[in-house]
Amino acid sequence: MALLADWLLRHSVVMCLLLHSLVLMTFCFHHAATSCSKNCYCTESDNNGITVRCSKLQLIEIPQDLPNDTRRIYLDNNSIRKIPMNAFAALPHLVELDLSHNELTQLEPGAFRGLGSLQFLDLSSNKLMNFKAEPFEGLKARANLTNNPWHCDCNLQMALLHVDLEPASLTGIVCHTAEPEEIGVQGLAFLLAPDIDLCLYMRRTTDVAMLVVMFGWFTMVISYLVYYVRANQEDARRHLEYLKSLPSRQGKSEESSTISTVV
Ligand SMILES: *[C@@H]1O[C@H](CO)[C@@H](O)[C@H](O)[C@H]1NC(C)=O
Ligand SMILES: *[C@@H]1O[C@H](CO)[C@@H](O)[C@H](O)[C@H]1NC(C)=O
Ligand SMILES: *[C@@H]1O[C@H](CO)[C@@H](O)[C@H](O)[C@H]1NC(C)=O
Repeated sequence: MALLADWLLRHSVVMCLLLHSLVLMTFCFHHAATSCSKNCYCTESDNNGITVRCSKLQLIEIPQDLPNDTRRIYLDNNSIRKIPMNAFAALPHLVELDLSHNELTQLEPGAFRGLGSLQFLDLSSNKLMNFKAEPFEGLKARANLTNNPWHCDCNLQMALLHVDLEPASLTGIVCHTAEPEEIGVQGLAFLLAPDIDLCLYMRRTTDVAMLVVMFGWFTMVISYLVYYVRANQEDARRHLEYLKSLPSRQGKSEESSTISTVV
């Protein structure tokens, strides 16, 4: 009797443990399937959809487990350094993306691909220097580009012509450094200084180079012509002298014909 009771007790403990872990496991899987990204905090409301908050989590990259129907993500105050291509391609309903106060130095081409519904993109307070059009391809959002160490040069000026971002966004590009420096655009919002042309200097340099090359060619052609005429004159003179040394009758007729060809 005591033996049976003991057996039952021991096994029920094991059974109980097993059952317990099974319940836990299902709970965990269920949780993972329906919930938010690890460590982030999600809220859902009828008019705003899912909002994911991942601020101040010391993240160094974009979490990959964001719910695919996320409408707003706050990834601010982290240590994210780059946005790879298609980083948000699985989130077609995203309306607002906050990446402010990170360590972003570069945005790869196609970084924001697939974000056709995006209305607001916050890239303020990062370390972005070079403005390129490719990462913003297909984006029509309002972007906050303030408080980045922008380097204003001809490339930046050209890139601005190829973005669809809301024009007001671009006033956030305040030049930290510039090339050429003499133009004095540092500290200014590039778009608010309408007369500035950072490509002028480059165009001038190429113009000068073209002139030099053309001058070189011109000189070569002229010297060749001079050389050619001189050489021919020499030939003609020698030929004439030779003809003069011949018996005069035959010489006269040939002489005149040679002269006419030379002339
Ligand atoms: C999100 O993913 C689930 C399955 O993974 C799919 O059934 C659902 O349609 C997706 N939702 C959107 C908005 O893409
Ligand atoms: C992010 O960091 C900045 C500067 O350190 C701070 O001013 C701001 O309040 C922080 N934002 C959040 C949401 O913590
Ligand atoms: C852009 O970001 C800066 C700094 O984070 C903030 O002060 C400013 O209000 C933002 N501008 C817009 C238009 O949201």
